Amino acid sequence: MRPDGPVNIITQNEAMRTLISRIDRIATTNSTVLLIGETGVGKEILAEYIHKTSDRSLRPLIKVSLSAVPSELLPSELFGYEKGAFTGARESRKGLFEMAHTGSIFLDDIDDVPMDMQVKLLRFLENHEFRRVGGTVPIPVDVRIISASKVPLEEMVKRKSFREDLFYRLNVIPFQIPPLRERRDDIPLLTEYFARHYQPDKKLHFSPEAMSALIAYRWPGNIREMRNVIQRIIAFSSGTVRKQDLPPEIVYDSSIDQIVIACKSCFLNKNLKLADVVHCVESNLIFEALKKAGGNQSEAARMLQINLSTFRDKLAKYSHETPKCLPKQKEHFPEKN
Ligand SMILES: Nc1ncnc2c1ncn2[C@@H]1O[C@H](COP(=O)(O)OP(=O)(O)OP(=O)(O)O)[C@@H](O)[C@H]1O
Ligand SMILES: [Mg+2]
Repeated sequence: MRPDGPVNIITQNEAMRTLISRIDRIATTNSTVLLIGETGVGKEILAEYIHKTSDRSLRPLIKVSLSAVPSELLPSELFGYEKGAFTGARESRKGLFEMAHTGSIFLDDIDDVPMDMQVKLLRFLENHEFRRVGGTVPIPVDVRIISASKVPLEEMVKRKSFREDLFYRLNVIPFQIPPLRERRDDIPLLTEYFARHYQPDKKLHFSPEAMSALIAYRWPGNIREMRNVIQRIIAFSSGTVRKQDLPPEIVYDSSIDQIVIACKSCFLNKNLKLADVVHCVESNLIFEALKKAGGNQSEAARMLQINLSTFRDKLAKYSHETPKCLPKQKEHFPEKN
């Protein structure tokens, strides 16, 4: 998208294109935006895109990771402080909101803001003015708020760990960014893009098996993980990248997606009965969860959202029966719960 644009967002996925066209429609307004998505999906790059395509593009975009700043320092970081406000405050200092005046501020990891800071943020969002720590004069600022969260804030509101009034102030225009595993058509495009980006002079080709493995992998770290993987692979490759050149977690991934894909192909190719496919999926999920939980049955049951006794019954059942379509993934795990 927009190769000549200020921020290069690579996508051919329909849902992402719709999202970007919706962003384009509100970019020039001053509306408060909330970006929600798993780690590495592109929240920060989209925040930059929003800022750069807005009328504020020549003004500053100030980014703050709210999880990276210790909670006791948050007020002085965001609002600044006056000389003498606390020991060591030898000079007055502007906070990030003041620095972002006439521009935008990107409040990353908004879900990590402690309750007392949530109150202060709410007050600021209501009046668009604040007092520096140790200050008495209200300082008005004109700033566009773009915030980002890895978790749906509604759920935090329900659990009472996020203020409802602050949620409504931030959630004016929400954008849910899909994880990479839900837009697999972007994987070949991004692979090519990162390969060219990191090694513009190398002519690399990915074998069909390597590309299939990249497409099938679940990418828990999303585009950031993909960027790092491609950067690593191409540094050691010349000519063709084969499946065995990929990191082991991609070659041997047996996530739910892979199991389902494998079962689907068994079902189509070997003409298995539905019961055989269900058997295959369930037994692989049981062993996969146990593997991910390091042998802890309670944890594995929790991952699959079934109770422990059901998990144990299924484990006992599948320990004696090999699925017809996939090789058994059984491993020995010590009982840990
Ligand atoms: N569509 C895209 N096209 C090109 N690069 C992208 C795209 N999406 C993300 N990236 C790149 O992937 C990396 C991760 O993206 P970004 O930092 O925006 O993710 P994030 O959602 O903010 O992650 P986190 O929640 O972990 O902070 C960055 O290097 C970014 O430039
Ligand atoms: Mg980020």
